[in-house]
Amino acid sequence: MTQEEKKVRQREGKGSKTEAKKYSQDQQQDQDVPVEPKFGPRVSFPYQKVWSRCVLILGVLLIVWYNSKRGKEVSFARQKDILLSRTQNLDCANDYKAELATYPGCVPEKCGRVVTDKLVSNTETEVLYKIALNGINLGGSDGGASILDLHSGALSKGKKFIDVYSLEQAAKIFNPADFAIYKKGKFIEKFNYRVVKTKIQHAVAHHFGVDADKIYLTKPTFFSRMANVSAKTVHDEYWHPHIDKETYEHFHYTSLLYLNDFGRDFDGGRFVFIDDNNVNSTVEPRKGRVSMFTSGGENLHAVEPVTSGTRFALTVSFTCNPAAAIADPSLKTSKKRT
Ligand SMILES: *[C@@H]1O[C@H](CO)[C@@H](O)[C@H](O)[C@H]1NC(C)=O
Ligand SMILES: *[C@@H]1O[C@H](CO)[C@@H](O)[C@H](O)[C@H]1NC(C)=O
Repeated sequence: MTQEEKKVRQREGKGSKTEAKKYSQDQQQDQDVPVEPKFGPRVSFPYQKVWSRCVLILGVLLIVWYNSKRGKEVSFARQKDILLSRTQNLDCANDYKAELATYPGCVPEKCGRVVTDKLVSNTETEVLYKIALNGINLGGSDGGASILDLHSGALSKGKKFIDVYSLEQAAKIFNPADFAIYKKGKFIEKFNYRVVKTKIQHAVAHHFGVDADKIYLTKPTFFSRMANVSAKTVHDEYWHPHIDKETYEHFHYTSLLYLNDFGRDFDGGRFVFIDDNNVNSTVEPRKGRVSMFTSGGENLHAVEPVTSGTRFALTVSFTCNPAAAIADPSLKTSKKRT
């Protein structure tokens, strides 16, 4: 035997010795196992199963929750955009199906939403803004949302409504001269509100492919003021998602004219279309911006709570049902004065 062979043997010997040691340890462990069963596998295994199931279910729930929570937000119209018109077509919800035969040429067959910044002029917006500002200041809700309805005269006051035309000061605010506009060099009195309403009516008809004379102004059509004050009545809770046609069955087209600016005059208060798969499509109010949409289930929406400042808008609603039509507001106060 050479030295080297010896070394190899020694190594081998050593190796086999440790292996033997290991083996006997393993054996010992094997022998140890039978001692445990009383507390071991049989009892603990079902719990492990339960626990692992719980963890799995919780994990799935967490993922579902996270995904639903996360959703998605897309911007339909930003305040800084100046849009000729932006349109999104949608399939109509079933809400109108029953009415298609009753009001042909009026009930929407193609649904959707349109935003435009080019319909109403700055002057027209400014005049309407003043009416909203000064008119609502005559009353004002205790909560965050106040309205002024020039058709019925309803004005939020405290927790109730009063008739704005019964107020002396109203005459000053609804002075016809304020609403007068120049046309062809001739001074003619024209109720600005009516001009704007007519423009919107024609735009709605155009965009949704119906006759302008088949859609009628309906109620509620009103000015709104929203501010960061905690709600006092349900009327103040404008932020709940809703479908206009569910709230007012006779609605077919809803439009909004924004009278001041998101991010400048107020924060929060964005208009949100809530679409399938948790996708939110947001419209940031811009002074003079008109948003028009079909009033059915395809346009579930909400207004975000206003977090600071004051938001003003005019809601103009249309119906196909002549029986639900309302007349343009007349200057009741001006009658009093003459
Ligand atoms: C979508 O808008 C609604 C109403 O404002 C809100 O409750 C919801 O959290 C929004 N979802 C996403 C994904 O932003
Ligand atoms: C109103 O403003 C206060 C203080 O600025 C803020 O803490 C609160 O969240 C706001 N309320 C709403 C509804 O945003």
